[in-house]
Amino acid sequence: MSNADIIMRIEGIDKYFGGLHAVDSVTFTVKKGVIKSVIGPNGAGKTTMFNMIAGFETPCNGQVFFNDILITGKKPWQVAEQGVLRTFQNLKLSNHMSVMDNVLLGWHSLGSAGFLDGMFSSPASRREEKNAKDTVLPILEWLNIIDLKDSEVGNLSFGNQRAVELARALASDPSMLLLDEPAAGLNMHETADLAKRIEKIRDQGRTILLVEHDMSLVMDISDEIVVLNFGQKIAEGIPSDIQKNKEVIRIYLGGDGA
Ligand SMILES: Nc1ncnc2c1ncn2[C@@H]1O[C@H](COP(=O)(O)OP(=O)(O)OP(=O)(O)O)[C@@H](O)[C@H]1O
Ligand SMILES: [Mg+2]
Repeated sequence: MSNADIIMRIEGIDKYFGGLHAVDSVTFTVKKGVIKSVIGPNGAGKTTMFNMIAGFETPCNGQVFFNDILITGKKPWQVAEQGVLRTFQNLKLSNHMSVMDNVLLGWHSLGSAGFLDGMFSSPASRREEKNAKDTVLPILEWLNIIDLKDSEVGNLSFGNQRAVELARALASDPSMLLLDEPAAGLNMHETADLAKRIEKIRDQGRTILLVEHDMSLVMDISDEIVVLNFGQKIAEGIPSDIQKNKEVIRIYLGGDGA
């Protein structure tokens, strides 16, 4: 049942935390080169689903395939090695380091240089460092943050910190990015810049799975949307269909905390 257009298949994944069914038999596929968004009220199971895809949590049932390779049961670094990279709901940047050094961490995590090598300033490791910069500088330029390369990350606006986070993820050349609430804490202007960056990444041929509460962002940039509520998939489709879906309208207008 392999389909060349499909990059990820999520098949009946379940997660229980004690008696709580946080993710309840969720099944969907992600087409290659699209932005697919996962929406739903607080506690719907969105982050838990990301954690299961990226190897941070083990599903109680079900499987995830990436390019027809089973990735459930793999460690986060093994999933990343396959080309699936996640960002976190709370930024995990090193605030006291420069933009450049933060993004270089993404490159190093690819396993090319290794921290130990880097500690010994051998000609080989200096060459690697030059390769690393040659990889990273165009990414900073492409995301419009090249002027900030020597700035300490902690001094940047949230919008620019999000861009650094994207740059760090791109440094390891992933084919799929999982973004968990990238617009959280951003103002309208910063959100619009983020939207352009995410679309640009998609237009490079990468696939994006996005968890986001900002509905105008989701409706603007998503090719497809999955809606979760209490762990269950309650709708799936293109943005215009999701906007009309009665069940979705009910949980968003009548629900709490969304
Ligand atoms: N490690 C855990 N142990 C126990 N319960 C958990 C754990 N992680 C998540 N949960 C619970 O599972 C449910 C789903 O949580 P999850 O974080 O996946 O929701 P979410 O859709 O990402 O919500 P939000 O929009 O607030 O980020 C919630 O009821 C949450 O309290
Ligand atoms: Mg979450």
